[in-house]
Amino acid sequence: MDYGKIFSGIYTDLAKIEDKGKVADYIPELSKVNPNSFGVQLTTIEGEKFAFGDSATRFSIQSIAKVFSYVLAYSHVKSELWKRVGVEPSGTAFNSLVQLESDKGIPRNPFINAGAIVICDILVSELRSPKEDILTFIRELTGVETINFNPDVVKSENANGYINWALVNFMKSFGNIHNEINDVMDLYFHICSIEMSCEELSQSFLFLANNGVAPHSNKRILSPSRTKRANALMQSCGFYDEAGEFTFKVGLPGKSGVGGGIVAVHPQKYCISVWSPRLNAKGNSYKGMLFLEEFTTHTELSIF
Ligand code: DON
Repeated sequence: MDYGKIFSGIYTDLAKIEDKGKVADYIPELSKVNPNSFGVQLTTIEGEKFAFGDSATRFSIQSIAKVFSYVLAYSHVKSELWKRVGVEPSGTAFNSLVQLESDKGIPRNPFINAGAIVICDILVSELRSPKEDILTFIRELTGVETINFNPDVVKSENANGYINWALVNFMKSFGNIHNEINDVMDLYFHICSIEMSCEELSQSFLFLANNGVAPHSNKRILSPSRTKRANALMQSCGFYDEAGEFTFKVGLPGKSGVGGGIVAVHPQKYCISVWSPRLNAKGNSYKGMLFLEEFTTHTELSIF
């Protein structure tokens, strides 16, 4: 299939549609991005690569990084994890506080902010240098040593993340945060600030399309059954209160971030990532969603 040609065809179609999205500005540092950036990269498990637009430009991957932290925590604490975080779609915004009270401080899943903060607490308990370890993990998955945090985004998140501070305090009161909240949030804000390109993202998620083995290194990252679970969680919880819509329109497991990136995985076939910074009302990339919908419809390469 000529993916390059398909990408430029979809891009031309989408250029005719008004982008109704808005760049995230609740974290001021994120609003500095060029709103017209647009990149796509598809990598197959056989190692073929297809790029389009700004596919090599790094951007703030934000909540996409919650997949890396979840995989790292799961490989350390095994099924003990499920005592502290659930596996149900929340149907609420990524930073919602509402369910935490009735759920007694146990977040619905690892991809809403509350769940990702509990995952960070686990990593702080389990790892001697969690920040370095998460970077090492991502660098191994991509083979790229220069992937890093953006310290300005960390500062901006820290200073403006009032809701995240509320979430961690609330969960601490229920006993579901075991470490000092400053240590946990320092890790959370660092993870959100990681910068990667579409090219690097599609390479790094490829193990989820390949039964848990990173194809470029042949290294096993997750067992097949855990890989199934990671994909299942992305399918049901990767887009917060738009997870149903993404499944309905795109038909692949995936994960979004408020930097405008989306990664989607077709098990046994490929990983595709797209970046377009203007977000819809649910905090997901407006044109990124449309692009992936057209891509899987046109190619008939989705799992549903
Ligand atoms: O916690 C926050 O507000 C952000 N740093 C991460 C949010 C995010 O990307 C949610 N996703 N779509």
